[in-house]
Amino acid sequence: MKKTEISELSQREKIQTQIYASAEGACTFVADAITALIRQRTAEGKPAVLGLATGSTPVRLYRELIRRHREEGLSFANVITFNLDEYYGLSGSHPESYRRFMQDQLFDHVDLKPENTHVPDGLAPRDKVFASCQSYESAIRQAGGIDIQILGIGRTGHIGFNEPGSGPDSRTRLVTLDSLTRRDAARDFLGEENVPRHAITMGVGTILDARQVFLLGWGEAKAGVIAQAVEGEPSAAIPASFLQLHRECVFCIDEAAGCHLTRLRHPWLVGPVEWTPAMIRKAMVWLAGITQKPLLKLTDEDYTENGMADLLTEKGSAYKLNIDIFNTTQHTITGWPGGKPKADDSHRPERANPFPKRALVLSPEPTDDVFCLGGTIHRLANQGNDVTLAYLTSGNLAVPDTDARRSIELIIELGETMRNADEVKHARAVEKQLDGKGAFGEDTPDIRHLKGLIRRGEARSSARLLELEPDRLRFLDLPFYEKGRYRRFQPQAEDVSAMVELLNEVRPHQIFATGLGHDPLSVPALCFEILREALKACAGADWLGECWIWLYRGHGAEWEIHELDMAVPLSPDELTFKIQGIYQHQTQRSQSPSISRQSENSWNLASELNRATAKTYDALGLPEYEAIEGFKRYLPQS
Ligand code: GLP
Repeated sequence: MKKTEISELSQREKIQTQIYASAEGACTFVADAITALIRQRTAEGKPAVLGLATGSTPVRLYRELIRRHREEGLSFANVITFNLDEYYGLSGSHPESYRRFMQDQLFDHVDLKPENTHVPDGLAPRDKVFASCQSYESAIRQAGGIDIQILGIGRTGHIGFNEPGSGPDSRTRLVTLDSLTRRDAARDFLGEENVPRHAITMGVGTILDARQVFLLGWGEAKAGVIAQAVEGEPSAAIPASFLQLHRECVFCIDEAAGCHLTRLRHPWLVGPVEWTPAMIRKAMVWLAGITQKPLLKLTDEDYTENGMADLLTEKGSAYKLNIDIFNTTQHTITGWPGGKPKADDSHRPERANPFPKRALVLSPEPTDDVFCLGGTIHRLANQGNDVTLAYLTSGNLAVPDTDARRSIELIIELGETMRNADEVKHARAVEKQLDGKGAFGEDTPDIRHLKGLIRRGEARSSARLLELEPDRLRFLDLPFYEKGRYRRFQPQAEDVSAMVELLNEVRPHQIFATGLGHDPLSVPALCFEILREALKACAGADWLGECWIWLYRGHGAEWEIHELDMAVPLSPDELTFKIQGIYQHQTQRSQSPSISRQSENSWNLASELNRATAKTYDALGLPEYEAIEGFKRYLPQS
């Protein structure tokens, strides 16, 4: 990089930010720093003091530290740890307490001395909380202060549980959790109503006292808030932005989490770029957006005034650029997601042949399918393609007890009417298990089974509205999900085998999948990894060479317009069908963070996203549709 570029970048990025191709690379870097610290302190005969975080984000780092302990002899005997925070009201044995999380994810697997691990006391009585927080601070001081602090970031911009409003001088204290934070934790607690309202957290000031800070972040859901923390002004609205005040703070993030930083989002604004076709398209869609002009009306001045003069010089004139990108964008549109038979397909996103196609839609959890590509599934089926819709996990963890209870009552009543004693007996037994669960208790296998069946029923009735008969559906109930809970899933070879079997049975011409760019421990991301492994295992299969993979998104956000390779328009009627399909998932109305995390009125989020894509196409000067579902082609070798 030239000097000028560095200064342009550092003017924007006020925190040193390292972007990695994947979470692994970032975790190796931070694990190296921790290893070096421990070895150095041990050589000096002093303890190393680590500040630790919870959540999905640091799990891979902890797995790497455990690996080093087991395989490379890294000892933690000389390490003292302080965790950032704890839910208030939870004892250390509660499955969702941060103490328990740390035991499960790190402490129990390395040679840390139990007395050297500190987590704020979630059970301190109200009148003793202040004193308890003060003694936490003094314990940190007595240990010599924190050498390395690990952080994740919440979608409110919080670090620890320092929610918006937390000042840079705040210290360890009792706080009230933001409603977005509680919604994000709803899955862990098997329902938002179970999420505690308060927590004890180290303050921003406590964090800033650490000698070195590493903030980790994965997945596009964190991209917006990371960009604000790195490029915005330090402000209590985004407490992580106060890390700008720390001289030894590094953000170690993956590309998805960095995608809102100017250097990735609008690189032409921070220095010269290589004008590949994809970059040109991205820049022009952006240019049309900020000038509020359709593509064909962009002028030479628009390019030169907005940091794209070199592109103009390279390509000669706005006229040609405009037409090229207009055509590229227009050619993404098709009403035939399975390809249009007997049509000239030279400018269509999908091949005309073979027709009909065997299309395999992979839905990590029930609802992902209809929510993200309900209109496309309807079209595929309606146009005569051979559609298989595979629900990869049962989704049973996201069913509230109230729904399970309603079904049990129905089964009992029906069983009594039909004099089916066995059925009644079983239902009563499950009812009893439900009664015995208590607050925050885990579901028994029987309860999980029942909840899975409830979701199957919803999926069937939703699919029927999309004109797919029940025999077109497959329920894989992948074992990693059945055996785990959120943030603790660990896919195994048996999950990959189940996927391989499905692929070899369907022999798809098209696969519709999701999960790329999600938090790596989320269900969609794990399912995508399983698919990737399965595809590797299928190498050489005759169907594979003919198989195209289309990626869908649509939970957190849609693909950005410049990323789309296929845009499937929906008519007003089709959109209504899709919404009806989503409504069939009654248990998910208030439960599923994948739906509810986005907005208060999240039940309608899918149509909002699809309408927004259509509006952008319209604004670019392309036809005006009611809604559009978008896809990006995935090339496994890329
Ligand atoms: C919680 C924790 C934070 C963590 C955040 C993000 O609120 N208190 O320390 O950074 O969640 O969690 P995740 O890593 O699961 O996205």
